[in-house]
Amino acid sequence: MLRFLWDSISFQMLLIFFIVFLLVADYMKRRKPKHFPPSPFSLPFVGHIHLMNFTDPHITVQKYTEKYGNIFSMQMGSTSFVFINGLRMIKEVLVNQGENFMDRPDIPVDREVFSKMGLVSSNGHLWKQQRRFTLTTLRNFGLGKRSLEERIQEECQCLVDVIGEEQGNPFNPHLKISNAVSNIICSITFGNRFEYHDEDFQKMLQLMDDTVKLHATVMSQSRFASVQTFPAIIKFFPGSHQTIFKNWRLLKRFVKERIDKHKEDWKPSESRDFIDSYLQEIAKDNGDGSFHEENLVACVLDLLFAGTETTSTTIRWAVLYMVLYPEIQARVQAEIDTVIGQARQPALEDRNNMPYTNAVIHEVQRKSNIIPFNVPRMTTKDTILDGFHIPKGTVLLTNLTSVMFDKNEWETPNTFNPEHFLKDGQFWKREYFMPFSIGKRACLGEVLARSELFLFFTSLLQKFTFQAPPDTTLSLQAKLGITMAPEPYRIYAVPR
Ligand code: HEM
Ligand SMILES: *[C@@H]1O[C@H](CO)[C@@H](O)[C@H](O)[C@H]1NC(C)=O
Repeated sequence: MLRFLWDSISFQMLLIFFIVFLLVADYMKRRKPKHFPPSPFSLPFVGHIHLMNFTDPHITVQKYTEKYGNIFSMQMGSTSFVFINGLRMIKEVLVNQGENFMDRPDIPVDREVFSKMGLVSSNGHLWKQQRRFTLTTLRNFGLGKRSLEERIQEECQCLVDVIGEEQGNPFNPHLKISNAVSNIICSITFGNRFEYHDEDFQKMLQLMDDTVKLHATVMSQSRFASVQTFPAIIKFFPGSHQTIFKNWRLLKRFVKERIDKHKEDWKPSESRDFIDSYLQEIAKDNGDGSFHEENLVACVLDLLFAGTETTSTTIRWAVLYMVLYPEIQARVQAEIDTVIGQARQPALEDRNNMPYTNAVIHEVQRKSNIIPFNVPRMTTKDTILDGFHIPKGTVLLTNLTSVMFDKNEWETPNTFNPEHFLKDGQFWKREYFMPFSIGKRACLGEVLARSELFLFFTSLLQKFTFQAPPDTTLSLQAKLGITMAPEPYRIYAVPR
């Protein structure tokens, strides 16, 4: 009897049944509530993957912004993203209704690495505690005070020296700049900087760099999508993401070794750096449970990553723009010579007297737009946004490009033009400038980053003129990774 039944159901029937079942399951899973933001036609299982151009995501979705306006959705694997455009809506999300959009989504690559700890990817109470503690500690170690400024100035001198060693030969400044920038965060967290030739440190920087690059490959191969869709399975397959996991484990070990060293000679009464302060917080044990060693590792790595890659990428853009716009470079140098001269190092105080240089740095940040879709957010509860229903757990991408390149706000949005930030010769602060994002979860390191950008940039231009080697054309094309970075380039640093 069974045998007969089995024979009568053909294999094709089973297959068709199975496919229909999957399609229905997929449809049910992805069904959206009423009044969800509109989205273009999507394929079963993969969603809008076919519409995504991973090497240039700006271009692909252009037509949807035109069609749907300031809020629309796209499906990637089993995750749907809501894109938010324009100042009004972005302020609504990040500021006015900020509390409802405060969480970070679970990104599987991240989850594997951090399981929602640290600063960047944690949520709720744990995040609040870590963020408050870190801001206080950064302030105690001199954010906005003199001591940190001195540390940055010292590092500026080291960077100038090591670039001087190139003796005017063409070189790629990438690693030197990352070294210098990373040293600031290292001195805050570990209590020491590293020599530019230190092997351990070079290894760590290289690892960080590789990880950033790998993220880019993972995304461009749209493997990201399969990790998003089948996170549980993909973990066991080889591929770039495996290397990412391995790199993270190595980076974690690097940090753990430093924490162990701190524990050996730790005195509860004095705090030399971020790790010491955190160990104090763990020892207090207020029964809260948010402060423990694993979380410390995650926080330190977050500071290192968020603090190094972003700032050094921006400085690389700044140098590149100076090479490509020599007349702007000359005007910055003229301002440096008038306000600071050659005899002393630039100081943060000088910034108020240097509107042109300040405008150039702002324009570099606007135009290079290194985090075009901000860092993703997720709704903490069901929310209504501009008449649309956004259920709890929806991932939102706020399109900073739509603000920093808004045709109705900027005089020449697509041109590198420091005049955007100048009015009657004075620096002009503009609401549409938001590379650090806005609201309560905006960049935690903004003050630090702006200090570094000003001091490194002016110190470099005080001592060098940057030029392209003959017969090379440097490109302003960005490559997508965790941040939009310039293509590797080689330049001359001609001593002044
Ligand atoms: C030019 C340099 C930098 C840029 C453009 C930048 C930009 C950003 C952006 C867009 C976010 C996401 C904010 C949001 O979700 O609304 C962010 C978050 C963050 N940044 Fe920065 N950043 C820079 C430098 C730094 C530095 C130097 C540090 C180190 C202290 C840092 C630490 C962080 C941390 C810890 C977060 C996560 C904050 C949270 O989730 O609460 N950043 N940054
Ligand atoms: C982001 O904004 C830019 C500039 O307005 C636009 O060209 C692009 O299509 C937008 N992308 C998305 C995904 O909304």
